[in-house]
Amino acid sequence: MTDRILNWGLLSTAHINRALIKPLNASKRNRLLAVASRSQTSADTYAREWKIPRAHGSYEALLNDSEIDVIYNSLPNHLHAEWTIKALRAGKNVLCEKPFAISLAEVDAMTQAANETGKVLAEAFMYRHHVQTLKVKEIVDSGKLGKIQLIKGAFTYTIKNENDIRNFKDMGGGSIWDVGCYPISYARTIVGAEPVEVFGWQVTGPSGSDEIFVGQMKFRDGIHTQFDSGFKSPYRSYIEIVGTDASLNIPNPFKPGVKNEIYLTRDGKTQKINIKGEELYLGEVEDMYDSVIRGKSPRVTLADSRENIAVILALLESAQSGKLVIV
Ligand SMILES: NC(=O)c1ccc[n+]([C@@H]2O[C@H](COP(=O)([O-])OP(=O)(O)OC[C@H]3O[C@@H](n4cnc5c(N)ncnc54)[C@H](OP(=O)(O)O)[C@@H]3O)[C@@H](O)[C@H]2O)c1
Repeated sequence: MTDRILNWGLLSTAHINRALIKPLNASKRNRLLAVASRSQTSADTYAREWKIPRAHGSYEALLNDSEIDVIYNSLPNHLHAEWTIKALRAGKNVLCEKPFAISLAEVDAMTQAANETGKVLAEAFMYRHHVQTLKVKEIVDSGKLGKIQLIKGAFTYTIKNENDIRNFKDMGGGSIWDVGCYPISYARTIVGAEPVEVFGWQVTGPSGSDEIFVGQMKFRDGIHTQFDSGFKSPYRSYIEIVGTDASLNIPNPFKPGVKNEIYLTRDGKTQKINIKGEELYLGEVEDMYDSVIRGKSPRVTLADSRENIAVILALLESAQSGKLVIV
């Protein structure tokens, strides 16, 4: 059982699939066996382009493929829950893209399906598995920064295509769902606890989803977090962690790669820390293998995913009501 190869199927021909195709092809323990699309022509074309052995002309056909062990759910956000549940009930393990779902009722139904079927389900927060993230957490937990006071961060970029799925509220669009979820998740991971109060502002686009979101989260013990996300500015991505003794700057927190640098500043002197990493999306693939074949718990737990969604929903509620929301 331990040497078994895990067969993966891509649920859709989404753009993000290409991030997973390389590590799946490189991994000795995993194999990309199939892709599914809503049309057979599109599945065939995609399978030819990416040298994937099987092409299914419907999502159902992929779920009925008895040789598939893991479904990678890369559908638009509003379809994560529906197809994750269908995949679990078809006996598949599922790696589901972020944001995990767009309501707590969806998260709970997904969790229930995973519990009832005994299959592995995890959110594809790839940065969580990377060496840089683990190193940052280790530095904070070691006490080198003193007592943590503030975490700041941002994730923005420009969307030019007005038909992008991220622009439509009914598809789970909005920058907080798409990229704001990263600084929220990062702060929660670093603090190792949940915020107790949040406040948010948003600038909405034509469908009512946010194009810019500015949020604040207050944790117990006097830890505060500020972040922004958006689709209307150039690419920006950073996390700054400020403690009573030192601060840590992470210029590339969410998409770290093979060579990374973070900066520790103490007494006005900045030390560069080099971190050698692995290919970004490899970690979630190997974590899935260890969970399915070796029975390890996924690094990103379902409880963790639920909390991230709860915080996003609380921030959206605050932005809509103009009031502070207790989480
Ligand atoms: N972790 C990361 O680094 C990362 C990066 C980017 C995106 N993501 C996540 O990955 C997911 C997909 O994002 P993406 O940018 O790759 O999406 P995309 O390129 O727009 O692809 C979405 C796919 O979903 C399928 N689909 C099914 N119903 C659809 C509908 N009603 N409208 C549009 N497409 C529909 C389509 O595949 P078929 O036509 O083949 O059926 C389409 O190719 C999102 O949840 C996003 O948050 C994660």
